[in-house]
Amino acid sequence: MKKVYLETFGCQMNVSDSERVATSLAAGGFEVTPDEDSADIVLINTCSVREKAEHKLYTRVGRIRNFRSVKPVIGVMGCVAQLEGETLFNKIEGLDFVIGTKAVGRVTNAIEKVLDGESYVTDLGEREQDYDWSVADAQRHSRYVGFVPIIEGCNKFCTYCIVPFSRGREVSLPASKIVRNVLELRRQGVKEIHLIGQNVNSYRPTTDSGLELFRGATPFSRLLRAVAATGIERIKFNTSFPRDFHADIVDAINEHENLCNWVHLPVQSGSDRVLKLMKRGHTIDSYFKKIDKLKDSNRDVALTTDIIVGFPGETDADFEATKRAVEYCGFDSAYIFKYSPRPGTPAFQMKDDVSIGEKKLRFIELEQVQKRTQRVRLQRYLGKKVQVLAEKTSSRDPNDITGHSTCHKLVNFQGSQALIGNLIDVRIREIKANSLFGEVC
Ligand code: 5AD
Ligand code: SF4
Repeated sequence: MKKVYLETFGCQMNVSDSERVATSLAAGGFEVTPDEDSADIVLINTCSVREKAEHKLYTRVGRIRNFRSVKPVIGVMGCVAQLEGETLFNKIEGLDFVIGTKAVGRVTNAIEKVLDGESYVTDLGEREQDYDWSVADAQRHSRYVGFVPIIEGCNKFCTYCIVPFSRGREVSLPASKIVRNVLELRRQGVKEIHLIGQNVNSYRPTTDSGLELFRGATPFSRLLRAVAATGIERIKFNTSFPRDFHADIVDAINEHENLCNWVHLPVQSGSDRVLKLMKRGHTIDSYFKKIDKLKDSNRDVALTTDIIVGFPGETDADFEATKRAVEYCGFDSAYIFKYSPRPGTPAFQMKDDVSIGEKKLRFIELEQVQKRTQRVRLQRYLGKKVQVLAEKTSSRDPNDITGHSTCHKLVNFQGSQALIGNLIDVRIREIKANSLFGEVC
């Protein structure tokens, strides 16, 4: 049996794609191995959202080629594969096959062609009508957490972003299929599901099937209520888009205990001028209104965000506005990125006029503001009881169990292995930089 080593970079959608590819490889007679050195085939699932992520691919393949006495079959899938297509064969020596983002259902065919002696195997074709979105129990990244794609692609075309080009236009999955998938995961013992997509709030299926019984101002809030009705213990969703994030989503969270109290709402900048250049479709005031509504919720909803510093034309005053926005919102955590020009995007045509040094300085400064506000913000958990899904033994201390709270904090606590897979009430005793520490109540 040929062994495949699958390596994944990038977002949750890539993790989810890899889970489904692993499922089809196992069903197609391959062994999916965690041991890279003994693998006959190495398949890299790539990310192109920033230049750094893309470069990782080139260094990785070079290393595989140089360190193995017999070169394995090497394949590339994901966003870089979709964007570069056949040109990757010129850029990467020793590459055998390239699979686009919609062709993941045909990975086994591509590998078989290579094993039959074909070179430069490329599939950038469309998704099959009857594509199977389910994941085998053994191939999930976690036994207790399941990723459930609800929408793929993106129609927003934020000017810095490569995703609409690498993942194509928005296509929503039928609600009936999503609900069936969630029920199956529940049957398999999964406790928490993440409804995933580049912009989940834009969810708009072609039929009402599966949503008929559920009210709501948008198909997404109706889907939240439909998924909540499955009775699965915990539901999280990611990523939200401010313009499409409607108050009704907060109402749904207020109504259903199993809709978790965590919202990831990327702001990207605190300056209206920059937001306009980014074509985000929201102003900072409209964003603050959504944050206010979330803060008014009767649940303590944790807020997280993404921010880009050093976008073309970003002035000191724009950057100051971003710092003020961070202070106003009080995010529980924030992912901060230095702007990275992506060929093919509209922003690539703009003058990248904030120097690398200035981007670095702004990154460090914003990180400090975030750390400071975060430290204050997280104090509210001290002494509080939070519900944690015990996911695994901590890699730092074998006596500790690690998992996530409903508010999506990483929580460590002392406890026996027998707790793993259960929802445990934990009292928070210590606030650390990127996690919480507590004891079983
Ligand atoms: N440069 C820097 N950061 C980017 N992101 C997306 N595109 C770029 C880019 N070209 C960030 C955004 C997005 C997150 C997933 O990655 O903040 O929300
Ligand atoms: Fe990229 Fe904007 Fe779409 Fe998010 S909403 S994936 S940032 S284009």
